[in-house]
Amino acid sequence: MDVFEIEGSRRLSGEIEVNGSKNAALPLMAAALLTTEPITFDDVPDLSDIRNMQMLLTELGCAIERTGQHSCILHTTDTTESHARYDIVKTMRASVCVLGPLLAARGKARVSLPGGCAIGQRPIDLHLRGLEALGATFELQEGDVIGRVPGGRLRGARVFLGGAFGSTVLGTANVMSAATLAEGTTVIESAACEPEIVDVANLLNSMGAKITGAGSPRIVVEGVKELGGANHRVIPDRIEAGTLMVAAAITAGDLTITNCPLDALMAATNCLEQIGVEVRALDDESSMRARVRVQGGRAFNPCDITTQPHPGFPTDLQAQFMALLTLADGTSVITEKIFPERFLHVAELSRMGAQLFRQGPTAIVSGVRRLVGAPVMASDLRASAGLVLAGLAAEGTTRVLRVYHLDRGYEKLEERLATVGAQIKRVTVED
Ligand code: EPZ
Repeated sequence: MDVFEIEGSRRLSGEIEVNGSKNAALPLMAAALLTTEPITFDDVPDLSDIRNMQMLLTELGCAIERTGQHSCILHTTDTTESHARYDIVKTMRASVCVLGPLLAARGKARVSLPGGCAIGQRPIDLHLRGLEALGATFELQEGDVIGRVPGGRLRGARVFLGGAFGSTVLGTANVMSAATLAEGTTVIESAACEPEIVDVANLLNSMGAKITGAGSPRIVVEGVKELGGANHRVIPDRIEAGTLMVAAAITAGDLTITNCPLDALMAATNCLEQIGVEVRALDDESSMRARVRVQGGRAFNPCDITTQPHPGFPTDLQAQFMALLTLADGTSVITEKIFPERFLHVAELSRMGAQLFRQGPTAIVSGVRRLVGAPVMASDLRASAGLVLAGLAAEGTTRVLRVYHLDRGYEKLEERLATVGAQIKRVTVED
C-alpha cells in the first residue's frame, strides 16, 4: 500500500500547472464508441480511472494508441461486444458513461450496475429514465442493466433530468451523447450545467453532432445519421485547480497556477476571497486556461458553504475547503446538498485536532489555531485530497494511508507539490 508522508508547516511557493480534467476525459473517451473513425485526444490525465476507462473501451472494441504521456488516439474498430463487466464497473462508477453511446451506436448495451460507494448511494435511475424517453428499454439481469433499442435507432424526445439532488452530470452526458444519433430532435430539460458537459458537447459537435445550449439547463440535440473523427484537447481540471488554490491558502503560500479554468471556479474563488485569500488572474488570454496567482495570509475568516450543482459550490471541493476552514478564526457551516453522506474525512480531520461536529448533511467547523500531524486514512478521492492539504499545514508528520484513492484523480500530486516546496513523499508499506 502506498502512503504519503508529509512534513507540514512548509509554505508553498512557485508555479504549478493544472492537468486535463478526469471528469471530462471519462465521458469524452466514451464518445469514441459513437463513431468508427479515430478521435485524437490531448491533455488526457495519466490516472488510474483513465486507465480503467481505456481497459473498458478496449473490451468494447475501441483500439487505443497512446501517442504521449497525455495524448492518445481512440478508434472503434469492432462493434460486436457491448458488455461493460462488473470487474471494471465496480472499480470505476464512471464506466456507466458508455451506456448512452453503446445504445445509440449499437442498439444494445449491457452495463453492470455500479452499486454504492464511499460517498453515498449513487443511483443511475435518471440515466435510465432519460434513455427510456429516447426509446430504449431496460431490464435487470444478474446485477447488469440490459438495454435494447427496438428498431435499432433511438428517437428524439423531450427529456427531464432533474432529480431530488438536482440534475445528473454523467446522466446528462449519457443522454446528450445518445441523442446525437437519434432520429429527430431531443430537448434535455434540467440538464447538468457543469463545464465537463460543455466539453463533451464541443467534442460531439466537432464529430458532426448538432448540439446547442450545453452549459445551460436546456440542451437541444438535433439527431444526425452518423458521426466522424475529431481532434480534441480536454479542458483543465477545475477540481485539481481548486485543490491547488487551497494548497496555497492553507500554507500561507504564494502559488501561480497555470492552465487554470478560472471561469469554472467562481463559487470556489468567491469563498476564498471571503476567507481572505487573494486570487488574481495574471492574464486574461483565456479564462478557462488562465495564469492565476493565489496568496494565503496568516489568518482566515470563516465561511459558510453549501454544495450545489454548477455554478454553485462543487461537492468535489467540499473536503478540501473543510480542511482549510478548520484553521479559520471562527465557525463555518458546511452543508452537503449533492452527496449528503460525503463526510468520511470529518473523523480523520478530527484526528489532526480539527474541531468538527456533523449532524446529517451539515458539518460545523470551529476553527482551531493549529492542526497536528497524525496517521489518517483516505476513504475516497476528494477526502484524501482534504487530508493531504491538512497535512501540508499541520505541525509535524502526517501519514495519509490508502493514497490509491488519491491516485484516481490527481496525477503524481506528491511530486508536483514537492516542486513548489512541500515536504511530501510516497512510501510503500505492507498492507
Ligand atoms: C459526477 O458524478 C462526478 N464524476 C463526481 O465526481 C461529482 O461528485 C458529481 O458528478 C457531482 O458533481 C464524474 O464526472 C466521473 P451526478 P455523477 O449523477 O455524474 C443523484 C469525483 O470525486 N443521482 O451528477 O455520477 C446522485 O446520487 C467524483 O471526481 C440520482 O439520484 O454524479 C447525486 O446526489 C465523485 N440519480 C446527484 O444526483 C441518478 O440517476 C448528482 O449526481 C444520478 C444521480
